Amino acid sequence: MTVYFIGAGPGDPELITVKGQRLIRECPLVLYAGSLVPKEVILAANPDAEIVNTADLNLEEIIARIRAAHERDLDVARVHTGDPALYGAIGEQMRELERLGIPYEIVPGVTAAFAGAALLRRELTLPGISQTLILTRHAGKTAMPKGESLPDLARHQATMAIYLSVDKLREIVAELTPHYGADCPVAVLHRVSWPDQDGVVGTLADIAGKVEARGFTRTALILVGRVLQPEGFPASYLYSAEHAESYRQHANAG
Ligand SMILES: C[S@@+](CC[C@H](N)C(=O)[O-])C[C@H]1O[C@@H](n2cnc3c(N)ncnc32)[C@H](O)[C@@H]1O
Repeated sequence: MTVYFIGAGPGDPELITVKGQRLIRECPLVLYAGSLVPKEVILAANPDAEIVNTADLNLEEIIARIRAAHERDLDVARVHTGDPALYGAIGEQMRELERLGIPYEIVPGVTAAFAGAALLRRELTLPGISQTLILTRHAGKTAMPKGESLPDLARHQATMAIYLSVDKLREIVAELTPHYGADCPVAVLHRVSWPDQDGVVGTLADIAGKVEARGFTRTALILVGRVLQPEGFPASYLYSAEHAESYRQHANAG
């Protein structure tokens, strides 16, 4: 018996991995984490499977369900939105499973940041502009650890994907502007890859007004950085003639 933490992807039911989809089909117990897990992904479960929305369950109740399945030797699909390793609260579930000696595995998924980059048709790491992506959030009920406040992170001027924070957009703009500049491109993407996906692009100077006009208050991702509107960046080494030549030499030598 194994508990599989499965990333369902950002919304489009086709953005789950083949492995995640197979496990959902096969597991006799499917626990899914609320309305952000696409219904179609869950409907792929076996008609005889027990399916439970855990949005209203606390940790103890979730673990009790898993424990009961463990006693009956039944595999469990534990389905989270995006990738389970990001803001999925799987840490405390895994800690409990370890304490109880219940085996588990993680099946990764497409996180909102990558679905957002795909929607915008942008590369988040461009030579000469940014080679680093910071995945973070603004402090909410969860405080930010020391050294991880937005001004601390903004000093790097790296590409930034900010989760769980669209309701703090004005504070975010005030904290980022001294480091990125008021003309730095920003995109705020709402429910990426869902049928009602929407988004606005702008700069740190005008994004807050644009987002307020659109009324996004949750389930939105904030992408910040000059990679969003790149100008004159050098081509990456990967596809350069020089790289192709040295690759051929290595291949021939091998
Ligand atoms: C609890 S976190 C879960 C993140 C998820 N594990 C992931 O990897 O995308 C929820 C936050 O992720 C972001 N998010 C998740 N799905 C999204 C989507 N389809 N479009 C935009 N943002 C999304 C939003 O910032 C939202 O507030």
